[in-house]
Amino acid sequence: MMRPRWEAGCLVVRTPAKINLYLEVLGKRADGFHELDMLNQAVDLFDTIRFAPRPDADEIVIHCDDPGIPTDGRNLVAKAWGLLRDRTEAPGVEVWIEKRIPAGAGLAGGSADAAGALVALRTLWELDLSGEELQALAEAMGSDVPFFLRGGRAVCRGRGERVIPVADEPPLWFVIHWPGFSISTREVFEAFEMPLTGPRALLSICSQELVARVRDGSAFFNRLEDGVFARWRRLEGLRRALVVDGCLSARMSGSGSALYAAFLSRDAGDELARVVRERGAGSAFLARGLPGWRVDRFGKERSGGDH
Ligand code: C5P
Repeated sequence: MMRPRWEAGCLVVRTPAKINLYLEVLGKRADGFHELDMLNQAVDLFDTIRFAPRPDADEIVIHCDDPGIPTDGRNLVAKAWGLLRDRTEAPGVEVWIEKRIPAGAGLAGGSADAAGALVALRTLWELDLSGEELQALAEAMGSDVPFFLRGGRAVCRGRGERVIPVADEPPLWFVIHWPGFSISTREVFEAFEMPLTGPRALLSICSQELVARVRDGSAFFNRLEDGVFARWRRLEGLRRALVVDGCLSARMSGSGSALYAAFLSRDAGDELARVVRERGAGSAFLARGLPGWRVDRFGKERSGGDH
């Protein structure tokens, strides 16, 4: 995962989506961001990004099969390129993004692409970036980007950039329902009102407790649901429709619009994904939780077999 490979003259990276098993808002910060406590899980729903070096040019050209995604400087792949381009002599690159992760869905597809671009350009240009440098560059691109440097299951705090890996037990399967429209994260946070009861206690990062709470379903929670469901009223009904036998919990991911049901096995999810697809609103994906990965520091030697 996130390990770039050479295929037909292009460096290819597959970037996974994330799901929030838990999302609590602790408060609003002086910098306008919200202090969060999250339990994130990377899943095997991927975008694919291909990078071809263009030694004759010093610009980035981006193509994307989703016409809703900007291919200019607003694209996070272009931002990653902009942060690294001064470190190499021939920064020209042509990029093809194949989007499978719905945008504006709370699945962090843009952040995953940003992390994938950092890792791929580091490999392409043989940059000797330390883990700290990668983390700082990831943070500069967005709150969810650092999570994708390691993936798996992790407690994420601060804006989301403080990533604490946790045991990815029990393994999880998900039916992800994208309802057919996008929601802006910024708008959701701007409209967010802290409930009078105040936030819950911080999520325990004690493995045993976390594993037990995922297994019995009590870990699953999303503070942003009330505000989002009040404005997009169909979503609460769609969420409830995901609660079937064997489902640990059905929740919204991030700031929406995607909803998911979590399962301990693939079988129960299979049937639900079929039912949701037949209902016809948006699309449904069956996805598996991914274990964490290492983004190794790039040394002088390339790893074998990739070329
Ligand atoms: O960091 P990112 O660009 O992904 O965040 C998008 C928007 O979501 C921010 O501009 C901010 O309005 C909101 N946000 C927030 N608190 C966070 C993360 C995001 O208020 N922890």
